[in-house]
Amino acid sequence: MPKFLGYRCSLCGTEYSPNEVAYTCPKDGGNLDVTLDIESIRTKYQPEDILSRNDPSLWRYLPLLPVDEPVGDSTPLHAAGGTPVFKLTSLAKKVGLQNLWLKDESRNPTASFKDRASAIVVARAHEIGAEIVVTASTGNAGAALAGMSAAAGQKAIIFAPKSAPPAKVAQLLIFGAKVILVDGTYDDAFDLTVKCADEFGWYCRNTGYNPFTAEGKKTAAFEIWEWWQDAHAKWHDEFGEGHEHPPLTVFVSVGDGNIISGIHKGFKDLVELGWMQRMPRLIGVQAEGSAVISNAFHAETETIQPVKAQTIADSISVDLPRDGVRAVRAARETGGTYLTVSDEEILKAIAELGSVGVFAEPAGAAAYAGVVRAVSTGEVGSENPILALNTGSGLKDIRAAMNAVASAPVIEPTLDAVKKLL
Ligand SMILES: Cc1ncc(COP(=O)(O)O)c(C=O)c1O
Ligand SMILES: [Zn+2]
Repeated sequence: MPKFLGYRCSLCGTEYSPNEVAYTCPKDGGNLDVTLDIESIRTKYQPEDILSRNDPSLWRYLPLLPVDEPVGDSTPLHAAGGTPVFKLTSLAKKVGLQNLWLKDESRNPTASFKDRASAIVVARAHEIGAEIVVTASTGNAGAALAGMSAAAGQKAIIFAPKSAPPAKVAQLLIFGAKVILVDGTYDDAFDLTVKCADEFGWYCRNTGYNPFTAEGKKTAAFEIWEWWQDAHAKWHDEFGEGHEHPPLTVFVSVGDGNIISGIHKGFKDLVELGWMQRMPRLIGVQAEGSAVISNAFHAETETIQPVKAQTIADSISVDLPRDGVRAVRAARETGGTYLTVSDEEILKAIAELGSVGVFAEPAGAAAYAGVVRAVSTGEVGSENPILALNTGSGLKDIRAAMNAVASAPVIEPTLDAVKKLL
């Protein structure tokens, strides 16, 4: 018996039973939301049942997930999620904020946020007995699928653009996935993967296309909810019970739009359960050269118009976002917004995060670049409590990192040379 009721199309609202469809809505191609039996979860569980669990990984939220945890030894698959939140006091001061935190998703087993989605998809693949799981990826989703699959003994095939940063390709290969590099864009790889899954009967993990990716990504919302209860309580100790303040604002970098819609889904689950009263605002950050969702948001439309994407932030370089409509709604329905940042702002953000001990890849640093931008334009005031996500490790793309800082001098190995340099 599946742990979920079925699916609901985000465009036309049609409901499907668990075995009726696997990916998007057959009528209109809309992304499907997995529907949980919220009533039954509410009667069986209290927040305490989750908060008191010892497991720090995303599997602590098992009652709210549509899959079972794969049984077996402790492996990287069992360690996705549970990422730390750091308080960035010096950067907050520099930017002009009273409170700024960063949730560091680079601490996931394969060093990006995507492990959350891939862990849940691999669990689903196991439940439906899929022999092969396939995904298109700019790199991280593939590395995550390859890593989680390796941990679970699942066969995986990854299609990535041949321009993917070498470190990401290395991860794919090291985890033993079959890697196919496509002479084209991420969007080309995406379409090809869907065709192959159809033709060969592979189970397709493609971001947004597979409804379980958002179910994995929503676990970040559960962690934010749990963390904020503490952080918020500390505030009230400091300022007194009646202290009023704006809601928590969460900055997320956006490419396909599946991370932001997954996080939104997580908050919606919690509100439906009656476990969360005030939903955080979600602010999506896109690269100027890949801003389809931001464009739609500001044009007040849900029509997703593709662009020819061009940005150093390869993970969010997307011509046609595959979860655009839900991503527009994530900002709209939480009182958030979208903003764009230039490649220069992203490089500066990499260096600034590095200066406080956080190493982010371009797409990861984009969220912090968005914070800087939002404060400078007055989109958020100094009293707003802000949480930015770093979605991927800087080690994934060292070429971009080297462009963010001055290169190191090379000297003769003599004291004189050092003195001259200093
Ligand atoms: C590091 C990183 N940040 C952000 C994103 C954006 O996520 P989404 O495409 O779901 O919007 C990705 C997706 O590949 C990513 O790898
Ligand atoms: Zn539909």
